[in-house]
Parts: sequence; C-alpha cells; structure tokens
Amino acid sequence: MARGIGSEFMRLTRHAHLEISEQRLGRPEPPPVEPAAGESDAQPLPDPGATRALAPDFHDLVTRRVSRRRYAESPLTQRELSFLLWCTQGVKDIPGGTVTLRTVPSAGARHAFETLLLVRRVEGLAPGLYRFDPPAHALRALPAPADLSERLTAACYGQACAGAGAVAFLWVAIPRRMTWRYGERGYRYLHLDAGHVAQNLYLAAEAIGAGACAIAAFDDQAIDALLGLDGERAFLIYLAAVGKKP
Ligand SMILES: Cc1cc2nc3c(=O)[nH]c(=O)nc-3n(C[C@H](O)[C@H](O)[C@H](O)COP(=O)(O)O)c2cc1C
Repeated sequence: MARGIGSEFMRLTRHAHLEISEQRLGRPEPPPVEPAAGESDAQPLPDPGATRALAPDFHDLVTRRVSRRRYAESPLTQRELSFLLWCTQGVKDIPGGTVTLRTVPSAGARHAFETLLLVRRVEGLAPGLYRFDPPAHALRALPAPADLSERLTAACYGQACAGAGAVAFLWVAIPRRMTWRYGERGYRYLHLDAGHVAQNLYLAAEAIGAGACAIAAFDDQAIDALLGLDGERAFLIYLAAVGKKP
C-alpha cells in the first residue's frame, strides 16, 4: 500500500497542478446519461409527485436516521421505490436540453453517476438488476447472474446487509463526465457528490419506515467485475442497502 497516497492526491489535485480541461480545449461533452449494454425498454415508475404525502416531520427524520443493517421480509412498493429514486437522482429540470438539475447537488451539475439497483423485494417488480433512467424516471432491466445478492455480499467482504435489503442502490461513477470540466480534481467531486446522494437515501428511507446502510468497504475489482464495469471508465463508488425496518 502506497503510504501517503491520500495526501499526495489532495496535493496534486490543487488547482495549481491541473491541466487544461477537456471542456476548455473544446472537446465534446460526454452524454449526461449512459445506457448499459443489453438493457430492456423503460419500465415507468409511479409518479414521484404522488409520494409527497410520505414525508413526515423533517426534524424527526434527521434525528431518527441511523444506519440500519437488518431488514424485514416485507417488500417495498413501487411507489416507495419511486420515492427513493426521486430523492437520490430525480431530474427536476433539463434547462438547455442537456444539463440535468436533480434533487441532489452535484459539482457543476455534472451528475456523473448511474444508479444500478439490485431489486430483491419490490411489489410487482421481478427480482434482478436494473438501471434507473433519471430523465425518464423509469427502470431498465439488465442481464445479471441469479446469485447476484450472494456475490454482492461476498464482494463486500461478507457484510450480510449488502445483499439482504429489499433493494441495494449501486452508484456507478462515470469519471469523464466530471473530469471533462474539472480535470483530475473532478475525482474529489465524485466522492463529495456520492455523499449527498447517500444522505438523501438515508433520510428518504426513514420517511417510508425503512432503513438504509451506506457501504464503502468493498473489493473494488470484485464488485466492478460483477457489474461488468472496467474500473477506470466506470467504477462502483458507493452502495447502500435499503429495506423495511424489522
Ligand atoms: C463513507 C461511509 C462508508 C461506510 N461504510 C460502511 C460499510 O462498509 N459497512 C457498514 O456496515 N457501514 C458503513 N457505513 C455506515 C457507518 O458505519 C455509520 O454511518 C456509522 O457507524 C455511524 O452510525 P449511524 O449511521 O447509525 O449514525 C459507512 C458510512 C459512511 C459515511
């Protein structure tokens, strides 16, 4: 392990060290959303506007939030899943036709994540792997091995909660979407952005009587291989399990 690599990363990503970004060089902007190979047609989710009534008192919500690692066997409804996805990556506006403004902040509104979902218990939704399509507010099914939950748990060093929730949110970073504008400093922003997304998931889960646990202890290579990511152009940055409280 390279000792000091963290402080070296912080030093080398100071503005003084940055090269001219691809954006300033006039290179084309990467697309704001990236379809995955072999994905299905869009399966629309319930209108996220209909979930407004779920939100309880905000002070209670913030106070109640903890990391919950055990879940009831009861499923989430599609309306609840729609709410969680709206709170974590919901698109509010697309001014100018390309940049998306979402329910979470993102450096330069780059929104450099794709959300993959391991669905285990959601009413009316076949278990499996999906990609959330934010502009369409829809899911697209992806090919996946039948033992994905077990393999996800194994890739998280055996942390049982990873594959035990009703759903696991798997946030995939597409770094070029961020570095196109910010160069290597963009890698800092990816990690900051991921925190915003996960915190909204924690609070949204509490709002529907569910619990979430963020997970960053995973074997990068194992998890990227499991999800068909090359680890450079696209890599798993963070994940969280969600399920109803026991
Ligand atoms: C960046 C980050 C990584 C985390 N990784 C894990 C993890 O791999 N496994 C886990 O069980 N909890 C993980 N957690 C949850 C923390 O352990 C938890 O937030 C902390 O113990 C405080 O407890 P609380 O969330 O209930 O307040 C992570 C939290 C954060 C913010």
